[in-house]
Amino acid sequence: MDLAQARTVVELGPGTGVFTRFIERELRPEARLICLEINPELARAVAERFPRAEVVNDSAENLGRHLGPSGPEVDCVISGLPWVILSAEEQRRLLEPAVSALRPGGGFATFAYSHAAWLPAGRRFRKMLESSFSVVDVSARVWRNIPPAFVYRCRK
Ligand SMILES: C[S@@+](CC[C@H](N)C(=O)[O-])C[C@H]1O[C@@H](n2cnc3c(N)ncnc32)[C@H](O)[C@@H]1O
Repeated sequence: MDLAQARTVVELGPGTGVFTRFIERELRPEARLICLEINPELARAVAERFPRAEVVNDSAENLGRHLGPSGPEVDCVISGLPWVILSAEEQRRLLEPAVSALRPGGGFATFAYSHAAWLPAGRRFRKMLESSFSVVDVSARVWRNIPPAFVYRCRK
C-alpha cells in the first residue's frame, strides 16, 4: 500500500492492534497515523501500545471530523472493520467517509474471509468497492489464516 511514502494513514477498527504494528513499522517518522476504534477499552489499549498513533474512540463513519490539517488528503485507509456482518446502509455509512477522505490515487485495503465473500453481504460489499474505486484488486487466498482470508486492495 506504499505506506513508506505516505504522509497520512488511517486505520479503521484497529482492535488489539495486530495491523497497527505492521503499519507503524512501515511509516516514515513524520507520517501521521490516525486510528478510529469504537470500543473504548480497545481504543485505550491501542493508544497505550502505539503512542505515535492518534487514536480516536469514535465510529469510522465520523472519520471526516478527525482529519484535522490533513483534510481529505489521506494517502491510505486500512480497515479491520467486519463488513460482512453489516447491513447495506451501515456498509455505505462506513465506506463513504473513507472514500471521501482519500486523495485521488489514494489506497484502501481491507481483509475478507473467503467463506464469507460469497454471502449476500460479502457480494454486496464487493460491488460497493467496485463502484467506489477505480481499481479493486483481490489478493491470493491466505490459506494459513484461520479461517482462510484475502485482501481487497483498492485505488481511488
Ligand atoms: C475484526 S476486529 C479488528 C481486528 C484487528 N485487526 C485486530 O487485530 O484486533 C473489528 C474491529 O472494528 C471495531 N469496530 C466495529 N465497528 C466500528 C466502527 N463503526 N468504527 C470503528 N471501529 C469499529 C471493533 O470494535 C473491532 O475492534
